[in-house]
Amino acid sequence: MASTQGAAKVLVASNRGPVSYTVAADGSLNAKRGGGGLVSGLSAIGSDADALWVCSALSDGDREAVRRGVAGAGRGGVRMLDIPAEVHSDAYNGIANSVLWFVHHMLYQTPLEPVFDAEFRRRWASYETYNRAFAEALAEEAAPGAAVVVQDYHLTLVPGMLRELRPDLRIGHFSHTPWAPPEYFRMLPDDVAGQVLRGMLGADRLGFLTRRWADAFEACCDRFAGGLGGTRVGVHGLGADADFLRARSREADVVERMTALKGEIGAAPDGSARRTIVRVDRTELSKNIARGLLAYRQLLDDHPEWRERVTHVAFAYPSRQDLAVYRDYTAEVQRLAEEINSRYGTPGWTPVVLHVEDDFARSLAAYRLADVALVNPIRDGMNLVAKEVPVVSDEGCALVLSREAGAFEELGEDAIAVNPYDVVGTARALHEALSMGPEERAERSKRLAASATALPPAQWFLDQLHALEEGDAGQSA
Ligand code: F6P
Repeated sequence: MASTQGAAKVLVASNRGPVSYTVAADGSLNAKRGGGGLVSGLSAIGSDADALWVCSALSDGDREAVRRGVAGAGRGGVRMLDIPAEVHSDAYNGIANSVLWFVHHMLYQTPLEPVFDAEFRRRWASYETYNRAFAEALAEEAAPGAAVVVQDYHLTLVPGMLRELRPDLRIGHFSHTPWAPPEYFRMLPDDVAGQVLRGMLGADRLGFLTRRWADAFEACCDRFAGGLGGTRVGVHGLGADADFLRARSREADVVERMTALKGEIGAAPDGSARRTIVRVDRTELSKNIARGLLAYRQLLDDHPEWRERVTHVAFAYPSRQDLAVYRDYTAEVQRLAEEINSRYGTPGWTPVVLHVEDDFARSLAAYRLADVALVNPIRDGMNLVAKEVPVVSDEGCALVLSREAGAFEELGEDAIAVNPYDVVGTARALHEALSMGPEERAERSKRLAASATALPPAQWFLDQLHALEEGDAGQSA
């Protein structure tokens, strides 16, 4: 048992925290606060709950903030851990994003990868060190009997490590990704696979976004860990934050960007507004942006009547650019967009409007203008864009949705389903979506928005906390 115990009664642990710092030219620190489900969830529990968010310093600015005592000592409800940069990089880039993410999203090109060599073992040791740093900080900060909710594949070993340090705590873990089926999961070296499962099973309760991912986890435990032991498993399908999105998308900066975007999209030859197929993603290997562009090209070949009458608005924001495979993927997306534009474009029509600089207000502007939303991931824990566009779109949008996205479980009925690998099928789905009559589109969009907002972020978090503290009796999962 840790020698000292802290005061926090509810703790969240995640790699990326709710705030990041940069050092300004005059040496002062600028803090930037983020949003997302956990932020709304924690604010919903109120300030008297003594909540603390434990996260990792990710940048030089963050490390400086820790050094100056701004972010390191639990002030403002955040404790950032200054894990050595090389250890963090090995754990985050080398293991979490290059191995565990690839396993759960089934992204390997298996003839050549993965290769679990001595370098992998060195990085795995860093992953253990990084997880231990979190477990020790949580053990220090948690009040007796506190609830701790650990997030994601970065921190799979934390529940087990924390359980040893502080058996009195209620420990939860939530996975925002899919979970791999046993046949794919067993690619991991046996001892590593065992460590991951035992680490997770150190929790009292594990949360997943859909029944499908929870079942895959249970199947892995049955095959490789002798079952779940006493650990409970629940499903919490994070929904879109309707109130926030509706209010934010009416603000002046969004309206300004709608005007700019309409200018880029232009009008059809008969003067009517061009139709829009909108996608917004982090440039993430699992998002399938490249096949989305191929499907759009196929649409223009199969249905030349759409040429000059439709624009594909694709926002692909940078993500994990420390990894070469992500940089290459971004370059391929840009290359494909340029190829389509030079082959089909006319003086008055740019077939693909691609933007790669992150701009949230512009994303909302595109959501409002969307006639069709294209969400075609290879595999995705949930995909909140699929839930957000129907909530925000002005006229209602048709949703072309991959059957491999977690959101498909809730939205499948009113979406047009696609197999993400089937480019011809996706082109057909885009044609069907563009051809949908305005009434049907509005009706479907309304139903999609209702399903998408069934479990708002604050409630999503409170449900988990309640189930962790009080048990699962009465829970829907
Ligand atoms: O979308 C799944 C997810 O694990 C989120 O929970 C998390 O915020 C994100 O991916 C991690 O992304 P990044 O590597 O940019 O922090």
